[in-house]
Amino acid sequence: MQIVCTDRELLIFEKIAAAAQSLEVPCYLIGGFVRDKIIGRPTKDADIVCMGDGIELAHRVAASFQPKPTVAYFKTFGTAQIKLEDFEVEFVGARKESYSHHSRKPEVEPGSIEDDQDRRDFTINALAISLNKEDFGMLIDPFNGMKDIDAKTIQTPLPPLQTFSDDPLRMMRAIRFATQLHFTIAEETFQAIKDNAHRIKIVSQERITDELNKIMLTDQPSIGWDLLFRSGLLHIIFPQMVDLYGAEYVDGKGHKDNFYHTIQVLDNIAKNTDDLWLRWAALLHDIGKPATKKFEEGHGWTFHGHEVVGARMVPKIFTRLKLPLNEKMKLVQKLVMLHLRPISLTKENITDSAIRRLLFDAGEDIESLMMLCNADITSKNPNKVKRFMQNFEMVHNRLQEVEESDKIRNWQPPISGEMIMEKFGLNPSKPVGLIKDAIREAILDGIIPNDFDAAYQFMLQKAVELNLQAVE
Ligand code: CTP
Repeated sequence: MQIVCTDRELLIFEKIAAAAQSLEVPCYLIGGFVRDKIIGRPTKDADIVCMGDGIELAHRVAASFQPKPTVAYFKTFGTAQIKLEDFEVEFVGARKESYSHHSRKPEVEPGSIEDDQDRRDFTINALAISLNKEDFGMLIDPFNGMKDIDAKTIQTPLPPLQTFSDDPLRMMRAIRFATQLHFTIAEETFQAIKDNAHRIKIVSQERITDELNKIMLTDQPSIGWDLLFRSGLLHIIFPQMVDLYGAEYVDGKGHKDNFYHTIQVLDNIAKNTDDLWLRWAALLHDIGKPATKKFEEGHGWTFHGHEVVGARMVPKIFTRLKLPLNEKMKLVQKLVMLHLRPISLTKENITDSAIRRLLFDAGEDIESLMMLCNADITSKNPNKVKRFMQNFEMVHNRLQEVEESDKIRNWQPPISGEMIMEKFGLNPSKPVGLIKDAIREAILDGIIPNDFDAAYQFMLQKAVELNLQAVE
């Protein structure tokens, strides 16, 4: 087995080896770095495990660099990190761990490299490479991690029940690695996730959401959401997603399975953007469907208002998942709210006014909204898809034309409230708002063009209707 390191990585490892030798502690590269090198994925950090004090080793290593990097260390965990430009190295003493049943906090005692490999999550993460003089570069693979990499399999080194019971977050990690690497979770390991799913409750929401975000950022996030669903984890961590699952039938009429539709939309958008929040918008775009589902005689299944209900659910879901409650949440909410608008336009005779209103409501997020709508086309009927795509293209072109001529996207009122107050000697009051709204509506409806002179004349006209006198 040949692992290809960059010159810089080699230099760092040689310095670590020298520092460890001077302290007379054996040390090894372990975990994600070894796994990713073997698979051929890019690496930007490495874990070092030593048969001694990881913090002391980190200080010794840091001292061998010019300029000397700072050592960040956590005495309680016995871990230390140094950052070498864009490469991060984490040091820890080999441990033998056992976890108490009710918490993720391990009870730790010093151990051998084998003890340390035993307690790791998956065979592919338990591979180690020696940095010791006598066998520098030798691969230590007691659990056949190499074989599992070849077979693209995720399984635990110890019986899975023990590995997951030691740390239930690993159930999420199994699914995340399966998604990132396109690996399959071994049957026994997956069964253990199903059996232990309820234990995810002892894991902090932040850690769970970190894993969800990592799944979201993969090239095919549907793999992860499907596994979360099938393992039963989703029922505990995100039940609203489970409510999307399945198709109900009345009088032989069914609707599509909104869970599988949703994760298909997510995969579609993932092909076009790495933006985490657009991906969350795709995941949540139909989240209001279960609450609005109705079977209407003569019509079939309807989900009227699901975009409004869905948009209202977004802050609650973000709060529960401890996602940030900031402008990113607002963006997701806005996209959920507007996701039907472009497509509904394609069903009618598209007026300039409807296009202007869409540009106004979506503002600078119009491209993101169009991307979401494009991803939302998942029909299996090629004729339907073709028709949708043609209509979609037409709306897209019309949006460009109208934006070019009317500049609505980043619309600013051509007449400010201050101007209105000054012109008619008003304090901040209802008529000021009435005039401002009337100008905006007239522009969006195409009654007047989007410019100062037209808006000024319109203001004078509106003032007459409201019996306002201009002050000279
Ligand atoms: N590990 C573990 N159980 C956990 C977390 C981590 O056994 N709950 C071990 C694994 O051996 C893992 C290593 O610690 O490879 C480093 O963990 P981490 O940095 O979280 O993951 P990586 O495998 O490095 O992968 P990534 O950087 O993609 O998260």
